[in-house]
Amino acid sequence: MFDESMPTGMRSNLTSYGDTEFALFLRKAFIKGAGYSDDALDRPVIGIVDTESGFNPCHGNVPQLIDAIKRGVMLSGGFPVSFPTISVHESFAHPTSMFLRNLMSMDTEEMLRALPVDAVVLIGGCDKTVPAQLMGAASAGKPAIQLVTGSMLTGSHRGRTVGACTDCRFFWGKYRAEEIDDEEIAEVNGRLVGSVGTCSVAGTASTMAAVSEAMGIALPGSATPPAVTADRMRVAEETGRRAVGIATERLTIDQILTPAAFDNAFRVLLAMGGSTNALVHLAAIAGRCGYPLDLDAFDRMGRETPVLLDLKPSGDHYMEDFHRAGGVQRLMLEIRDQLQLDALTVTGRTLGEELDDAPAPFPQDVIRGRDNPIHSGGSIAVLRGNLAPGGSIIKQSAATPALLEHRGRAVVFEDAEDLAARIDSDDLDVDADDILVLRNIGPVGYPGMPEAGYIPIPRKLARAGVKDIVRISDGRMSGTAAGTIVLHASPEAAVGGPIALVRTGDMITLSVKDRTLRLEVPEEVLATRAEQVVERPKPRRGYAKLYADEVTQAEEGCDFRFLQDPDPTVPVPRPT
Ligand code: FES
Ligand code: MG
Repeated sequence: MFDESMPTGMRSNLTSYGDTEFALFLRKAFIKGAGYSDDALDRPVIGIVDTESGFNPCHGNVPQLIDAIKRGVMLSGGFPVSFPTISVHESFAHPTSMFLRNLMSMDTEEMLRALPVDAVVLIGGCDKTVPAQLMGAASAGKPAIQLVTGSMLTGSHRGRTVGACTDCRFFWGKYRAEEIDDEEIAEVNGRLVGSVGTCSVAGTASTMAAVSEAMGIALPGSATPPAVTADRMRVAEETGRRAVGIATERLTIDQILTPAAFDNAFRVLLAMGGSTNALVHLAAIAGRCGYPLDLDAFDRMGRETPVLLDLKPSGDHYMEDFHRAGGVQRLMLEIRDQLQLDALTVTGRTLGEELDDAPAPFPQDVIRGRDNPIHSGGSIAVLRGNLAPGGSIIKQSAATPALLEHRGRAVVFEDAEDLAARIDSDDLDVDADDILVLRNIGPVGYPGMPEAGYIPIPRKLARAGVKDIVRISDGRMSGTAAGTIVLHASPEAAVGGPIALVRTGDMITLSVKDRTLRLEVPEEVLATRAEQVVERPKPRRGYAKLYADEVTQAEEGCDFRFLQDPDPTVPVPRPT
C-alpha cells in the first residue's frame, strides 16, 4: 500500500501510538481529505513558514510570495505545504518586539521539529522575524532557506524622497523643535511608508536581509529586491526551486551556519553600516549553533572594515537604490579579500563560486570602493570600562564626530517612565555638554530591551538648535536612528550592572578612540551606592516570568539560557 521508495517527509515524525503504518494511513487520509492525490504526496515535502498577519504590514506580500514559492517547489517536483507561526511587527508588539522574538523562535523550532517537512522556506522580514526564524531553524537542524519579504517603496513629501524610518525620526525631530507644524507632520505621516515591505534604510530588517545573504542561508541576490517588484517574486520562485534541492541533498542548516558564515555576516554588517541590533541577533543565532560571540574580535574586525554603503542613516540612499546598484553581491565584491570564500551556501556552492558568477560591476554611486568609503573607522565600535564591564557599543558612523571624545556631567533617568515625565520639562537641568543616562531598559529591566536608547534631545535643547548630545543606556536603538548614542551597556541595571549606580552630577568620559566608557566615581563610593539599590519587582507568572528568569545579556544575544547550545565551541568572529 505504501511505496517504500517514497522520498518524502510524509513518513517522518509519525506519532505511532504503537502502529506507525496506521499513523501514516491516518495522515494520508487527512491530507487527501484536503483534496490532494497520492501522487502529490510521494514527493519531498517543503514547508513554507507563513508569517502573514494583519498586524504586520512589513509582511503584506507574504500571500504572493507563498504562491511564487509553491510554483517553484512544484516546478522542481516537490510538494509545498505552508503553515503559520507567530509574526512580530515593530509597532504592534507590546511591551517590545524583542520580548516576543524568543517566543517566535521557539514556535518556529518546535513546528519545524513536529511537522513532516524535508526542508523549509522561512519567510521573514520585519526586524525580529528573520533572527527568530534562524535561531529556531538552527536549533531544529533541518535543511532551511531564508526568504525575506523585501523592502517597502519610498514615498515623496513636497519634492523630497522619504522612507521609514530614518525620515520618520528626522521629521519628528523637526516637529519637536517646532520647525514644522501640525499640518505638515500629518501630511508626511502619509508619505513615509510607500508600500508593504520592510523599512527602506539600514534598519534591522535590511541588515538581517543582507547578512542572511552573506551567510549563504538566503539565495545570492535575494536580499534587496523591494517587496512589491517582479524581482522579489522571481526570487521567491527560485527559493522554492532550491528548497527542493536542499531537501534531496540533505543540506542541513549546520553546514551553512558555520563560523566562516558568521565572519561573513559581521563583515557585511560593518561594510553596510548596518543596525546595532543585528549584533545582538547574530550573537543569538551563533549561540544556537554553539559559537559564542567574541565582542573584541568583532571590534578588531570593525577597525579594518570601512562603511562602503551610502544608505541611510549612515549615508543618503534607500534600499531600492542599493538594489539597483547591485545589492549585497556588489557590496561583497568590494570586500572580497576580507570574506571567507570557502563558506558553503544554500545553492550548494561556496560564496567564492557565487561571487565569481555575480553580475559584472557597473558605475553607480551607492556602493563605494575601499578607496572612497562613507566612513573609514568602522561602523560599530565596542566600548568597555567600569560603566559597562560586559561591553557596550556605539554606531560611530551615525554619530557626531566631535562628540566621540567627550567628558560630561551625567543627567540620569531611572527608567522609561521617568524619561517620559521629565525630558520635555523646561525645569530639566541639562545643557548640550551633559551626558544623558537612561537605565532599566535592558533585557530584564523593561522587559525586552526596547529601542528606547534613542533618547530624544530634551525639548528645551532641541528648541535651542541642539541636534545631538551624548546618550548612554542599557537598551537598544533602531538601526534607522542616528546620534552619539552608547547602547547595550552590560550588565544592565536590572541585574546589578554599574549603570544602576550612576547619579546626576557624576562625570563620565567617553573615548571611542580608546574604546572606553568610564564613570569617574571611586570604587568605594560605588560599593556604598550598590548597597542602597532597591530591587525592582519582577513578573511572577507566564511568559514574562520565563523571560525575566532566563534572558541573557546583549552580548549573548538576549536568548534564553536553556535555548543556547550547551556546548560552545569556536568563538565568532574567529579571533585573528
Ligand atoms: Fe518592519 Fe521596520 S517596522 S521592518
Ligand atoms: Mg527597527
